[in-house]
Amino acid sequence: MEKLKLAISKGKILEQGLKVLKNSGIECKENPLISRKLIFNTSVPYIDVIVVRASDVPTYIESGKVDMGIVGRDTLLENKNDNHYRLLDLKIAKCKLVVAGKKGKKLKNNLKVATKYPNITKKFFHNKGIQCSVLKLYGSIELAAVLDMADVVVDLVETGKTLKENGLSQIEEIQKITSYLIVNKASFKLSNDKIKNVVEKIELGIR
Ligand code: PRP
Repeated sequence: MEKLKLAISKGKILEQGLKVLKNSGIECKENPLISRKLIFNTSVPYIDVIVVRASDVPTYIESGKVDMGIVGRDTLLENKNDNHYRLLDLKIAKCKLVVAGKKGKKLKNNLKVATKYPNITKKFFHNKGIQCSVLKLYGSIELAAVLDMADVVVDLVETGKTLKENGLSQIEEIQKITSYLIVNKASFKLSNDKIKNVVEKIELGIR
């Protein structure tokens, strides 16, 4: 039997995504939060769960080797791959993408912006008519503003604790973010019955 593979982004999405799956009757046989395995059998014989880095989810889905994914809207906005459909807004891992910096920082030309999201950042400032240079970082983005390596950062804010504890504040909100259930376009056609089944389960699970 051909199994469906469902990728979940590591980090906050993984914890909350696993809860959604559990509530939907799709439970991993081993706990991905503890195990070092990469592929997990579940209580549903035709679904395997795969755990990958958030920014890699679109690549796996694009390849068709993985059928479905649970991934943040931030990752989808940043990634140009569009070989997928968005099936459900799971309303988990709620946060927002913001411009932040030291108090009083103004958004003006020749702005230096540090971020994990160069595409979103360039588009945002282009639409505002502000010239900027983008410095790509992979974590602890706020530090770039604290050390004046950049004027501002574009990053996710959940509770606001990281900004507060580092003396930074939100300058502008770019986008509200939640996580989505996505599916590879070909998988959606080829495994339509199974995928509809998964969607029905998850729809009940998030109610
Ligand atoms: C995320 C994000 C912020 C922080 C926001 O980082 O990039 O730094 O969480 O959360 P808060 O508003 O609740 O403080 P994460 O912990 O995923 O690590 P990273 O900095 O390595 O990306």
